[in-house]
Amino acid sequence: MTPAQAAAVLQGYWQGEHFADPPAYLDRARALSPVLYDPTSGLALLTGHAAVGAALKSGQVRTSKYAADPAFASSEAARLLAPMMLFHDGASHTRLRSLAQRAFTPRVLEESREFIAGLTDTLLDGAARQAAQNGGEVDAVAALAVPLPVAVIVEMLGLSGDDAGRFKTWAGSVADLIGGLNVPPERWAQVEADAGAMRSYFRTLADDLRAHPRPGLLSALAAAEDGGERLSGDELLANAVLLLVAGHETTSNLLSGSLLALHEWPEERAWLAADPAARVGNAVEELLRFLSPVQGTARFTTAPLTLEGVVLPPELPLLISLAGANRDSAAYPDPHALRLSRENARTHLAFAAGPHYCLGAGLARLEAAVFLTRFLARFPGYRVPEQPLSYLPNFTLRGLRALRVAL
Ligand code: HEM
Repeated sequence: MTPAQAAAVLQGYWQGEHFADPPAYLDRARALSPVLYDPTSGLALLTGHAAVGAALKSGQVRTSKYAADPAFASSEAARLLAPMMLFHDGASHTRLRSLAQRAFTPRVLEESREFIAGLTDTLLDGAARQAAQNGGEVDAVAALAVPLPVAVIVEMLGLSGDDAGRFKTWAGSVADLIGGLNVPPERWAQVEADAGAMRSYFRTLADDLRAHPRPGLLSALAAAEDGGERLSGDELLANAVLLLVAGHETTSNLLSGSLLALHEWPEERAWLAADPAARVGNAVEELLRFLSPVQGTARFTTAPLTLEGVVLPPELPLLISLAGANRDSAAYPDPHALRLSRENARTHLAFAAGPHYCLGAGLARLEAAVFLTRFLARFPGYRVPEQPLSYLPNFTLRGLRALRVAL
């Protein structure tokens, strides 16, 4: 590998070269090196499974600090992002995460199973009605993949379902803030306005919930604030927004991507449909590996770090490709094939690894398993007609804008 080759691949990353066909771009990068370090641009792109896992678990990396940029620090957006656990390390991360985790137990998860099933059935009824009026076809993104995770997280947080439309808009703004590609200036103004609206909405709600607790995670988070270890008002609302956003954009993309993947791999779909109760668990793991709804994340080294023999200097930004790790042939034979029975599917890094391992992984797995089981039982012969496919322009999240499905 020459320095020029490394620089060219890294430059392509910022230009969104990987958008059209992420696996092909990531294979090209990995073939040069699973740890592609370009000293001139001061960046490293990690695409190998071993390197990505090691970097995420290393004690010699830190997350980004939004509030560290003085130009950005005084914005509404920065005030909203800064207290999110995603952007904290060490003791302050442990504190924020353990308070949120306390409100997010396996029991809460199990209690939501029935609700998720009921909601899925209601949405499937609605989709069937829409299809009946539309030549048998429906947009599975708008009718199913988006509303299901929104309704689930809104219910679990104990928010009002009447505000679901607003939450969807806000989540889109936070997604642009965290990983938007070529976001135009007028959009930033809207994002900033939405950040302000979110802060004021959640602040009022938190006051109300402390005075009049209701069932749901948000009341539990507000109560945690009143315990020995307290969440401040800003921390409470930032982490509630994080749960709201992390809890649905990602899962929506997994659901719609799964319907497309199962259509494209009919033998795999038949394997799953033959015994969904026994097979859906591993199938969801393989779909997570195959799709990587969160394509990547970022870290900074805090000390010299050696990965796969490459020595990286301190304070180096690391572009960590979860999608690259999940399609690495060194970890997965025939990595670009969907194999729902793949034995090591569960070793995927779609939920990251280390201290920031996805807090909602159990919920996402549950939603996907319930959704796929019920969808396939209800519409066993569904088809995806020929159509141009387009993905939302985001570095972090990969999701279909629409997916016409014939039920
Ligand atoms: C398919 C669905 C999902 C995927 C692929 C996904 C993926 C991820 C990934 C990759 C991270 C780590 C990010 C990083 O280290 O930079 C993460 C963190 C997180 N996720 Fe998820 N997620 C999903 C669903 C959910 C759900 C349903 C929730 C909650 C309701 C959730 C809540 C969180 C939270 C709170 C964090 C931050 C954890 C921390 O910083 O300690 N996620 N997720």
